[in-house]
Amino acid sequence: MAEDTPDRGTDDALDGELVGAAIAAMANAYCPYSSFPVGAAVRSDSGTVHVGCNVENSAYPQGWCAETSAIAAMVGAGERRIVAVAVAGTGATLCTPCGGCRQKLREFADAATPVHVCGPEGVRRTFTLGELLPEAFGPENLEGCSG
Ligand code: THU
Repeated sequence: MAEDTPDRGTDDALDGELVGAAIAAMANAYCPYSSFPVGAAVRSDSGTVHVGCNVENSAYPQGWCAETSAIAAMVGAGERRIVAVAVAGTGATLCTPCGGCRQKLREFADAATPVHVCGPEGVRRTFTLGELLPEAFGPENLEGCSG
């Protein structure tokens, strides 16, 4: 892919970096209650990778997901567009983003955005966000709304 191509969502080398970042972020997970570490990484349209992990809480519902942390890191850095996502978890079952995180991702990504679902060894399966959250409600639904 040409270096000046703005949407780098499917570039192999860059997605390798993204996947590695999500796997590395698992090590920082704070998950004393579930013992289920999750790492996430989002690549913004500038090419920057933002990472996050799950952060649990003794008041269980107050914990949050790795994807939420990564999105918050991106928004806090002043960026607004996600072009690729990687999520990494352990266990035999695919660690796909939870329903709430699919909606949170949809705020900053579109249906074609790749979501790499990973284990500690690497990518297990890649979906588009549209496959994970079909017919999604998104920011465009509110375009032109006055209220
Ligand atoms: N978790 C995530 O971080 N992302 C997901 O999409 C699914 C679940 C976390 C939340 C909780 O800390 C642990 O995994 C077990 O549910």
